[in-house]
Amino acid sequence: MLPMPAALVLNGPNLNLLGSREPGVYGSATLAEVEAACLLAGVELGLEVECRQTNFEGELVEWVQQAGADQAAGGLVGAVLNAGAYTHTSIALRDAIAGSGLRVVELHISNVHQREEFRHHSYLSAVSAGLVVGFGVAGYPLALRGLSLLAAPTDLR
Ligand code: DQA
Repeated sequence: MLPMPAALVLNGPNLNLLGSREPGVYGSATLAEVEAACLLAGVELGLEVECRQTNFEGELVEWVQQAGADQAAGGLVGAVLNAGAYTHTSIALRDAIAGSGLRVVELHISNVHQREEFRHHSYLSAVSAGLVVGFGVAGYPLALRGLSLLAAPTDLR
């Protein structure tokens, strides 16, 4: 039997605080609960999902670089990436996505376009395969479904 294809769910700064952080904006689910929902979505989609979180920009860059290499080697379909505030600041992360060729679905729990102006621009959108924005934490399973559709060799999107 072939090994199951894998997908990453990468969360950036302050997403470890989910559940207690501005619940009016981000909801009351904890990161552990969100990650459990991602693993479950993976079972439904036939994807082996691995979830990681870091508060460090360089660590995200390294994960993206490695994931791009893993995708090129086969086996990894791509990553769901909530880069938090680095979305709005990080040219390094954008370059890592572009340079590694990693298939990324950019995700935001909140609808960033309804919020402060500085959240309206993303350095990552132009190098991402798809975007999921404003569905609350329910966006994570949606983004995994979208990632698996984008990776599938079919026109039935
Ligand atoms: C966020 C939106 C960002 O603007 C913010 O800095 C975050 C979370 C979201 O999921 O809605 O940390 O990416």
